[in-house]
Amino acid sequence: MGFPKGFLWGGATAANQCEGGFDIDGRGLANVDLCPAGKDRNAVITGEMKMFEFDDEHFYPAKRGIDFYHHYKEDIKLFAEMGFKVYRMSIAWSRIFPKGDEETPNEKGLEFYENIFKECRKYNIEPLVTITHFDCPMHLIKNYGGWRNRKLIDFYKNLCKVIFTRYKGLVKYWITFNEINMILHAPFMGAGICFEEGENKEKIKYQAAHNELVASAEATKIAHEIDPENKVGCMFAAGSTYPYSCNPEDVWKALQTDRESYFFIDIQVFGKYPNYSLKELERKNLLPDITPEDLKVLKKNTVDFVAFSYYNSRCAVADSEKIKTAEGNLFVSAKNPYLAYSEWGWPIDPLGLRITLNEIYDRYRIPMFIVENGLGAVDTPDENGFIKDDYRIDYLREHIKAMKDAVELDGVELMGYTTWAPIDLVSAGSGQMKKRYGFIYVDLDDEGKGTFERRKKKSFEWYREVIASNGENLG
Ligand code: BG6
Repeated sequence: MGFPKGFLWGGATAANQCEGGFDIDGRGLANVDLCPAGKDRNAVITGEMKMFEFDDEHFYPAKRGIDFYHHYKEDIKLFAEMGFKVYRMSIAWSRIFPKGDEETPNEKGLEFYENIFKECRKYNIEPLVTITHFDCPMHLIKNYGGWRNRKLIDFYKNLCKVIFTRYKGLVKYWITFNEINMILHAPFMGAGICFEEGENKEKIKYQAAHNELVASAEATKIAHEIDPENKVGCMFAAGSTYPYSCNPEDVWKALQTDRESYFFIDIQVFGKYPNYSLKELERKNLLPDITPEDLKVLKKNTVDFVAFSYYNSRCAVADSEKIKTAEGNLFVSAKNPYLAYSEWGWPIDPLGLRITLNEIYDRYRIPMFIVENGLGAVDTPDENGFIKDDYRIDYLREHIKAMKDAVELDGVELMGYTTWAPIDLVSAGSGQMKKRYGFIYVDLDDEGKGTFERRKKKSFEWYREVIASNGENLG
């Protein structure tokens, strides 16, 4: 009983939130570099405010990240010390193709990731690679309009061919797009889309979504052709939506809210647009341009597993005027009165993870992978500089218990679990450093000041024991 043998325990990061080295070794500029910390971040990541060049008024935390570019050996060694079986990370597209539309890749960029994968293999850590974790080369945004333009499908295919060939034998697990449903909530960060005055934003978002979905299917095809051992997953920001009450209007609203996200995964798993979305997009005149060839590609190249992030459940109410809203990973949600909340106002709902796992498995019946789950909190070092992050341990323990129930009692198929994030890094939503998730503390503040020194927190030893006992000893 318990977790299956070979369960993949580990942690997850993203290139843009940890690498830094934004202009080193030929790397090109990307959308994620230009998302500033502070009050304008939200307007930039949602595509409402154009930020195509750095300016002197803003601070851009991705430029230096936590300098993983120069610390990766030290960091992977620490992950190995915790007993990681898997390390989820992403590649920065603009390190490999600085502009995005070149024929020939940048050798220095390819080497960087090859070294990382070799470093992982040295410790028997399986890399799980997200091909796109929110990043898009700025050249593709300025000259093609980002993912709204279907030419990006070909550029992405080229990237995929290059990395699948180069890393054959080193990487087996791939995710095509991080949180593909984020395109609807943060279109500049998620898909390099910046809106012009008077544009039909919804139409553009669904066209970009379609282009990414076709690109994802093409990537799955190429991955399987290059190495039949490759396993390719889709990935979305999950968290079941509860109706605020048993009023059928609230229940209907909850179902519709979930469908906004399931729309993507229904296509990636079943290989076709679901009827509910075809009808709605048609009704609202939002149907993207879909070619007969697209339909074939989608149909033939469905994913091997469903990966998702889970931070919290959501809550929907038909009459939104009456109910307060809660924060939560850029998704608007009614405030659920039964739950506790994090310092950033995100609901904390471990049972919601069991519910989400069951809902996804009931719907898709293919293996799942939890590739993000964690608590963003302020960590205050004690007089010796040590962080006793019992709040983080509590959060993770309760979520791991819920996941265990889903595996042991409900029989869902789960390949692994990677926490967000094993090491402190820049927050995607806020651009802050003080919103920390790690087992490893990084000495760096919100203004970019600090030594970048790495230190183990109390949760480091706790997670080491969780992995060593295959999830039996939760402290
Ligand atoms: C997910 C992203 O949305 O949530 C990560 O895939 C992100 O990139 C994580 O960091 C946590 O969100 P935040 O805003 O606290 O960094």
